[in-house]
Amino acid sequence: MNIWTFDQEKDLNTTGAGLIAALLQSKPKAVLGLATGSSPVGIYNELIDMYRRGLVSFANASSFNLDEYVGLPVDHSESYRSFMNEKLFKHVDIKLENTHVPDGNAPDPDAECAHYEQLVNDHGPVDIQLLGIGHNGHIGFNEPGANLTGGTHVVDLKEETLKANARFFPSFDDVPKQAMTMGVASILKAKQILLVARGEDKAEIIRTALRGPITTECPASLLQCHPNVIVLLDRGAGRFM
Ligand code: F6R
Repeated sequence: MNIWTFDQEKDLNTTGAGLIAALLQSKPKAVLGLATGSSPVGIYNELIDMYRRGLVSFANASSFNLDEYVGLPVDHSESYRSFMNEKLFKHVDIKLENTHVPDGNAPDPDAECAHYEQLVNDHGPVDIQLLGIGHNGHIGFNEPGANLTGGTHVVDLKEETLKANARFFPSFDDVPKQAMTMGVASILKAKQILLVARGEDKAEIIRTALRGPITTECPASLLQCHPNVIVLLDRGAGRFM
């Protein structure tokens, strides 16, 4: 595992974007695994900037997002599809039909999860998977517990995750209680993983995930089993490393 800590946010962002851009330059048809949340936004902004400067193209690339809320209208500003359209897709030349986010409004959520898993497998493996980490160690929406589910599945979000996500909704009660997420096994199939964490509030979970025991009680700790992980941390998140 390569763990890089940056004093400047800008350097973290250009490094992350540079890794993705280099992949796209050497493999224009790359399959990107993408995440929402605050952690990847600076990297998306850098990628948009590089695209505008003619340094990178997404024209032949495809993407798969980790997760989506169940039951939130797709055009809701907080759906992960809206997030991706707003934060990245509409600013670059990726073809929208080549971008994939689980359909959180599918009439049969379990069937949608099976379909999504199949789609990732058919197009994959994902070349580079961008990940954030929850304060409880979740990756995607794989929440801590005695068991983990390998493939894409519906998950009941934990209280702490609902609280963390309440900042994006008018009230706690408006936060969707379920999500669809790629499973840990699906995530670990990616050729390379790029884990991003920012802020002192992530320092403890970063230490637990990367230096602690490998356990389903901290899903991110399973990344220690992957042969090709790069971790990008700001000074705060990297405080204990
Ligand atoms: C988002 C996702 C989540 C977030 C995590 C961290 O697609 O799968 O696991 O990466 O909750 O969120 P932020 O980056 O907002 O701290």
